[in-house]
Amino acid sequence: MELQFVPNGRRITLHPDCRDVVNSLTPWQRHAIYHQVCRQSFAQTHPEAAIDTGPLTTEGLDVVRGSLSAKEAVSIADVITANLEALGPRAGAHGPVSDDPTDAIISVAQTGDLRALLQDALPRILSDETTVILERYYGSHFRIHGAVTYRTHALTQQVGSFLWHRDTAPMGQIHMIVYLTPSGAASGSTQFLGLNQSARAASLGYHYEHLENRTRDIETIFDGIEEKPDVLCPELAAGDSVIFPAPRVLHRGNLPTHGYRDTFTLILLPSFVPWQADIEDFGADHIFGDTTMRTLITDPFQAPPLELPAAARGDLNITEQWVLVGRMLP
Ligand SMILES: [Fe+2]
Repeated sequence: MELQFVPNGRRITLHPDCRDVVNSLTPWQRHAIYHQVCRQSFAQTHPEAAIDTGPLTTEGLDVVRGSLSAKEAVSIADVITANLEALGPRAGAHGPVSDDPTDAIISVAQTGDLRALLQDALPRILSDETTVILERYYGSHFRIHGAVTYRTHALTQQVGSFLWHRDTAPMGQIHMIVYLTPSGAASGSTQFLGLNQSARAASLGYHYEHLENRTRDIETIFDGIEEKPDVLCPELAAGDSVIFPAPRVLHRGNLPTHGYRDTFTLILLPSFVPWQADIEDFGADHIFGDTTMRTLITDPFQAPPLELPAAARGDLNITEQWVLVGRMLP
């Protein structure tokens, strides 16, 4: 059945007769079809848009220098410190909340002054140049699904999210991490395996590993074959960003060896309209507030997207080859 859409202001909605068809799809297919609709529309309105051969498409990783000035990044980090200090001595301003390794990562409430600063920074983070990078990769507009701010403290033990993994998410999902403190060997960093080698690892059976099977040592996955993993680990200054498709490339974080690291991460997904349109129409609460990070079970045809009821989510076991090998679209 051909899916039909109804114009809805500057957006489109799914024709009600097509709801059952869309509900019968897997979550990956549902998000991919929405992305394809966005691409078709974008190709019509942007006939001059270039076909991308940039690093995000070829490597699955791009670095943007100076998304924010170092001064602005540091001033946001200072507000994070002040907000955590205001919450009391055990809120994680200057050290982990407890001895539990997962408490090394403090999720910082994006409220008050901090939210105002972060929202004000969005047009600089998603500058014209960065928008071009993202639109070329997507072949469409994109939206900000949500944002998260973390302070990560040094710790001697490693924790689960610091193992090699790909995020279980729509294949069009992009994470843009803005570093508010420097990122490098001592200050903690993120390591990546490029798209080709992530696909190679998938062909060797390592793709969406359950937590208990995840490895800290990517060499073990390439054991016994000639190809060796070429781990990418950009050195970043405060204000620099990395952009990567988290469901498509293997990645892992490293804890800082001393002090802490602050990051502001945007979760991006394909969209029918530019990201600013969502903020104009719906405000920004859905970005900075209680955003569901379970993007896979959201309905991309709804604006802003909400979680689907349990009965309409579809099979969450990954059986599709294009998902396993990490392609953006079927
Ligand atoms: Fe991840």
